[in-house]
Amino acid sequence: AGGAAAALVGRSAGGATSELSGPVIVTSWEFGPGANEVGWPILADEGLAIDAVEAAINYVELLPDEFYVGFGGSPNAIGETTLDAMMVWGPTHEVGAVGCLKRVKRAVSVARKVMEETQHTLLVGDDATRFAARMGFDETSLTNAASQKAWEEWAAKGRPSDAWDPEPMGEGGKIEGRDTVGTMAVDAHGNVCVGCSTNGRSFKLPGRVGDSPIAGAGAYCDNDVGAAIATGNGDVMMRFLPTYHAVELMREGASPAEAAEAALRRIDAKGYHFDGGIIVLGKDGEHGGAKRGWKDEAFGYAVHRGAGTSQVTVRG
Ligand code: GLY
Repeated sequence: AGGAAAALVGRSAGGATSELSGPVIVTSWEFGPGANEVGWPILADEGLAIDAVEAAINYVELLPDEFYVGFGGSPNAIGETTLDAMMVWGPTHEVGAVGCLKRVKRAVSVARKVMEETQHTLLVGDDATRFAARMGFDETSLTNAASQKAWEEWAAKGRPSDAWDPEPMGEGGKIEGRDTVGTMAVDAHGNVCVGCSTNGRSFKLPGRVGDSPIAGAGAYCDNDVGAAIATGNGDVMMRFLPTYHAVELMREGASPAEAAEAALRRIDAKGYHFDGGIIVLGKDGEHGGAKRGWKDEAFGYAVHRGAGTSQVTVRG
């Protein structure tokens, strides 16, 4: 459709008028290409970025074998999988989010309902589940054979959750693991949207909510500038609002890669040692990322802007 090739006039990160590159969708990690393939046709048909972001994230949430997002993934310390998710809609700067959502699979869609059907921003726990049921979502167990096995093996070791350990302030103190689908899109109308969804840190204490449903922490966007998503140790990263920081740096003229790196450097400066990454998308379609840790993981993201998906590896 026409949207794919459209050159749009809009405002660049610096505030000057610039040529936008047309619709674009960016999704974190190795499920990025599949998610973008689901979201892209919506953008190509001149649909809204919010619909593309929701569809892309739903695709990952419903993958049966994805351990860090959606059902059947990393359980908490009592064996239950709970979900955090958020959407930020650039044109109105509305935010909808759910934290510690139980027994509902499409967490990002519940987050969208919070945004569109209420004046609230964040609902949590069983009350978020009750809200979802009222919005017509099915209630179902989020446990599957993989998450049950993971929890049984962990529980058999008899160790307490690593949430009781000292803060990750030095080499060896960091929390391993990875997580979180984050998707950002700019549509043919110049709307920016970002969303994210995760089942969060493995064996977390019951009730724990991570960075994903916190605006400016797990994700952020500004319709004049662009968007950013975070993944990794949310317990550390949410203390610094790194996606807000990255978008604001871009507003001041930083490139996406520079903004991502500078936001992580702010966390380094306080002495934290963690696995984490930030991916940033300018409204003009420029993108970049930065990471810490994940020495043995290929952290990256996928970009789709009409000629298929390209994959970007973020080097540390
Ligand atoms: N980054 C996801 C979490 O820590 O929950």
